[in-house]
Amino acid sequence: MARRKVLLVFGTRPEAIKLCPVVRALKARPEDFEVLVCVTAQHREMLDQVLAIFGVVPDHDLNVMCDGQSLTESAGRILERLEPVLKQEQPGMVLVQGDTTTAFCGALAAFYQNIPVGHVEAGMRTGDMRQPFPEEMNRVLVSRLATLHFAATERAARNLRSEGVVETAIRVTGNPVTDAVLYVRDRLPGGNRDTSRKLIVVTAHRRESFGAGFERICAALRQIADMDGVSVVYPVHPNPSVSSVVMERLKGHPNIHLIQPLDYVSFVDLMQSAYLLLTDSGGIQEEAPSLGKPVLVLRDKTERPEAVEAGTATLVGTDVEMIVSSVRRLIEDEREYDRRSRIHNPYGDGHASERIAEAILS
Ligand code: UD1
Ligand code: UDP
Repeated sequence: MARRKVLLVFGTRPEAIKLCPVVRALKARPEDFEVLVCVTAQHREMLDQVLAIFGVVPDHDLNVMCDGQSLTESAGRILERLEPVLKQEQPGMVLVQGDTTTAFCGALAAFYQNIPVGHVEAGMRTGDMRQPFPEEMNRVLVSRLATLHFAATERAARNLRSEGVVETAIRVTGNPVTDAVLYVRDRLPGGNRDTSRKLIVVTAHRRESFGAGFERICAALRQIADMDGVSVVYPVHPNPSVSSVVMERLKGHPNIHLIQPLDYVSFVDLMQSAYLLLTDSGGIQEEAPSLGKPVLVLRDKTERPEAVEAGTATLVGTDVEMIVSSVRRLIEDEREYDRRSRIHNPYGDGHASERIAEAILS
């Protein structure tokens, strides 16, 4: 049978972390696939860090990122610059991941060229189009545009069925983020970690928290950093709407270490050293159980109920008292902490990429 020409389109850090293992799995089968990568570079430095770690060299780079870009600006640039690439390459399938502007525009541009779309991490839903914003709308729209849906979990597959997606178009594969995190974890050098202080690792970047939400998150972090025996490390997202307020509110606190975004290997290493993770990131909620780390989620709604039900993640929103008391509980209640750090990962076993490759072939 002829080789399938697959073009992967991605542009942000989390998409790269989740799709680089898929690139590698497809490239491992040269008799079955011709693999091309087009990065939109919706993110620049944070994308390049991931590409370097996985040794992925893009065939096309749309280089769209501008400082402080609006949603419309990045969407317009991606659609415009992707069209000639699709016309030139004419792949048999375009693969996109998740719910970003790149994922939505990648799927739309492919649809305009009559190219089938495969969607990795399909079927996650909060049911609220404004939380997360604009990601919930993006992923609903990608589902309408896609031909093949790779759901991470059975629940995500159910969501798709309930929206009328036919059974034959859905595959439950796990999330390739588990492939990425296990690949990196297993290559980290061993050695003793400093456990003299409980390390709280923080990340936050969601648009629905801009303004008052971030003010409250920063107020909570100051209280947490004042607790005995605790230290806070926070790689700050470069979005100016995030970094400006975080720098203004937290810079100079002796127990809060504000740092640049870390490359993925360094960040997985930091997560391994963490006592707990305080984050609004989707990917971190999916990675943390593979590392045995409890997650407190700085959001009111989640598209990842599996993590909450399993007990590895707790929604704490952006309420100061709720954030601080939840951290205190995990610090003081060792039994609860132990229970929550020994939960299996509902998002995958490290073999999602191989299943995705197999599903494309079948
Ligand atoms: C985007 C995604 C979000 C995802 C997040 C992961 C959308 C609408 N949002 O949000 O779903 O969870 O990425 O981080 O697609 N910047 C840099 N260097 C970088 C990356 C970003 O300077 O490497 C700055 C730029 O000023 C850029 C801004 O951050 O304009 C915002 O980037 P953008 O991709 O538009 O939004 P994110 O908030 O990163
Ligand atoms: N991450 C990283 N360096 C950092 C912070 C996060 O490599 O300094 C990784 C993290 O392990 C996860 C991904 O980036 O895989 C999450 O990205 P982000 O929070 O930007 O996006 P989201 O997951 O919310 O879409």
